[in-house]
This record gives sequence, C-alpha cells and structure tokens, in this order.
Amino acid sequence: MFNRLRELLGEYNGISAENVYPFAGADNALRAIFYNLVEQGNTAMFIEPTFSMIPILTFLRGLNGITISSFECGEWWCIDFERLVDEASRVDITVLVDPNNPTGSPILKGNKDLFLTLAKKTNGFIVIDETYYEFSGYTLADMVEEYPNLIIVRSLSKAFCLAGFRLGYIIAHRELINILSKPYTIFDIPTPTIAAGIAALENHRYVNEVVSRIVELREWMYKELRKLKFNVYRSLTNFLLVKDSRDLKNYMLKRGILIKDIGKNLYRITIGDEDMCREVVRILGDLQ
Ligand SMILES: Cc1ncc(COP(=O)(O)O)c(C=O)c1O
Repeated sequence: MFNRLRELLGEYNGISAENVYPFAGADNALRAIFYNLVEQGNTAMFIEPTFSMIPILTFLRGLNGITISSFECGEWWCIDFERLVDEASRVDITVLVDPNNPTGSPILKGNKDLFLTLAKKTNGFIVIDETYYEFSGYTLADMVEEYPNLIIVRSLSKAFCLAGFRLGYIIAHRELINILSKPYTIFDIPTPTIAAGIAALENHRYVNEVVSRIVELREWMYKELRKLKFNVYRSLTNFLLVKDSRDLKNYMLKRGILIKDIGKNLYRITIGDEDMCREVVRILGDLQ
C-alpha cells in the first residue's frame, strides 16, 4: 500500500515515484528536513511572518535564524528579494512558504528565473513549502531533478481535506529522497491514512471542486470585507489576512467563530463553507 501511495503521488505530480516520499503531514516532512539535513549551529533563513513551525524547528534544532521581513505593498505582502538572494550564500537552509502563511502572498510564484537567481547564490538547501499549491496553481516541482538541493513540501490537509489523517509529502531529487527517508519505514504512516491518501488520489477530481469553491468564496469575502472598509489583503490560499487594531479574535470567539491571532494586529480567517463565510461577514459588519 505504501508503494501504491508513492506511485499515485508521483502520478498526481507527473514525476517518478522515486522523487516523492510521504510523511505524517507536512509538519513531519519539515521536521525530517530540519533533523536530517542540517546540524546544530547551522543557519536557517525564512520569511517573517511565516508558518509558525519554521521558527519553532529552527529554535528546537539549535539553528541560527536569519529572517527576511515581509511588508505590505498595496493589496499584497512583498519581500526584499535582493536581500534574500544576498543572504542565500551564507545560510545552510532557506525555507520559503509559497504562497506564504499567514500573508497569503506569493514569494517566487513558481517563477523559474527568480528561482535560478536564488539557486545560483545558494550553497545550502532550498525548501519550498507548497502546502497551498492547489490554491495557487504554481509549483517549482519540475526543478528537483536539476537542482538536488531543492525540496518541495506538500500537504493533503488543505485542498484534499484530509487534515486529521496527517498526510504530506516531499518532492525532491532521488538521492535526497534516499537521505530523507533513511530513518523511516513503511510503518511510520498509519494504514488508515495510507488508505485515505490512496482513495483521495485515485479520485482527485473533487480537489478541483473544493479549490474552485473556496477561491470563489475567498474572493467574495475579500470584496465584502473591503466594502465594509476592513484592511484585508489579497490571497492565493484558503484564508484571508486582516489587519485591525481591535481584538477581533475575542470578538469573534464570543460569537462562536475562531480566527487566528497572528500578533501585530493581524488576524487570519480561514474560508469555510458559504454559510460560515456569510456569518463571518455579517458579524464583522456589525463592528463597523
Ligand atoms: C505552510 C504550512 N506548512 C505545513 C503545514 C502543516 O500541514 P500538515 O497538516 O500537512 O502537517 C501547514 C498547516 O497549516 C502550513 O500552513
């Protein structure tokens, strides 16, 4: 069953099964990278803010962290790409969540020229966490054969709706897959999870429906929140980021809705079904 899952992951991505390896969630894929490819005292570079596990793993692994700040640029969040490239020669591992969580904004946007500019200056590993790939529609997965230091991280928690099953995977050069998979056996992912992954990948057309529905609702909610004069940013993911100086988390919580407080007056709202989205807009509308 494990090999069938690998085969299907390969097929889904149009690459060989030897270039993919499943983990118990993208979280564990990231952990495998941090614990097998770098050593205490090495340096990791990542965008700020980003997915919380990346600074946590940097700390737990005893790495030095270099952060590249993300800043608001109109409806999106941008980074100083030149600084990212400048620092790349000095770091052992660069981790880019693309599109980024929690900003929802692109980083390299699957742009090969940008990737090559970065890759040329990089001596260490480049990890691109494409957990939101199905929503963004872009990837650098086809660069892994040519760039043996490139690792793509994916998840079946979002567009595949399998979060509780804990299934993610890595796409990389086969030699890197051999290194990363060495400490693991086919028993590290529970059989029900493998079965769920196989069933989902054999019938993955539902993913397109999930994605188009969420994208439609996300764009609707974006427009509604803008009309209500909320400071909301564009997104290529399944969530929206809102900047507000009020305590939106508690306000929503008291009304039975959980949104994520990112700090610095930033709140991340995940796109649910239509009723949920309407409810969120209605409740936020009462505040204005
Ligand atoms: C960027 C990013 N990477 C990884 C993960 C973890 O995914 P998984 O549920 O597959 O462990 C998340 C979950 O929110 C995420 O946003």
